[in-house]
Amino acid sequence: MKNLISITDLDVKEIEELIILADKIMKNPVAYSQKCQGKKLATLFFEPSTRTRLSFEAAMYELGGNVIGFSESNSSSAAKGESVADTVKVISYYADIIAMRHPKEGAPLVGAMSASVPIINAGDGGHNHPTQTLTDLFTIYREKGGFDNLTIGLCGDLKFGRTVHSLILALARYKNVKFILISPWELTIPDYIKHEVLKKYNIEYVETSDLVSVMNALDILYMTRVQRERFFNEADYIRLKDSYVLTPNKLENAKKDLSILHPLPRVNEISVEIDRDSRACYFKQAQNGKYIRMALILKLLEVE
Ligand code: CP
Repeated sequence: MKNLISITDLDVKEIEELIILADKIMKNPVAYSQKCQGKKLATLFFEPSTRTRLSFEAAMYELGGNVIGFSESNSSSAAKGESVADTVKVISYYADIIAMRHPKEGAPLVGAMSASVPIINAGDGGHNHPTQTLTDLFTIYREKGGFDNLTIGLCGDLKFGRTVHSLILALARYKNVKFILISPWELTIPDYIKHEVLKKYNIEYVETSDLVSVMNALDILYMTRVQRERFFNEADYIRLKDSYVLTPNKLENAKKDLSILHPLPRVNEISVEIDRDSRACYFKQAQNGKYIRMALILKLLEVE
């Protein structure tokens, strides 16, 4: 594999290998601390990020490599009108691997066509976020020991939430997985996910707007924020932003071994009181992201 543009670029076996490698790195980071000596990662972030960019950068430093890049499009020549294709072609001369986030869907794929080094999609518009999905899968694996026979509640902005789209694509490949899709009707999952994944592969799913009524069925609750930056109209955002706020009373009927995930950043979807609940996994999830990205960098650079 040369690039990671969609989570489906990785088959189930490759995902398992990455998870096993991330687990090994987590247990013995010193053994991996020189693996990328002399290598450079370029982080090209045309959109804001805390976790994805900094965990990629921490990952490369902890592998003994170096990092170049930019964290906003205004500090790159994109502000002068340079195309993604030209930007990536040039940066391929300076770095061994590129992680790119862009507000336009498909931009990392366009970049991959002109790059001569591996390209990682670090989030493209409201489309996909495959390395967040690897982070989510690593977290679910650590919490549940596998992916079969899980009922997963995805809650919030399922229309624009790219992490949800990639996670459904990934989990749809495991046995007896059920999805409960919880959102206001304005923010339901895109039709292409319903038709080309859920219906096509006969995956059981339910759509509802009522989180509390389905709480007792869930093994995983994946909360998401309403994606303000994707709305055309601020009034709609204001009306929908607090559709779901997870508070302790809403967990009364939840399973004792429920795992609560959130890709973060959190705005108001999970009350801070939940942070003390042993079922809250979202900060562990952010930590896991660094190790799975270390594993991904090693794989794409074909480092033994
Ligand atoms: N989860 C995630 O993508 O976070 P950032 O936007 O901070 O990178």
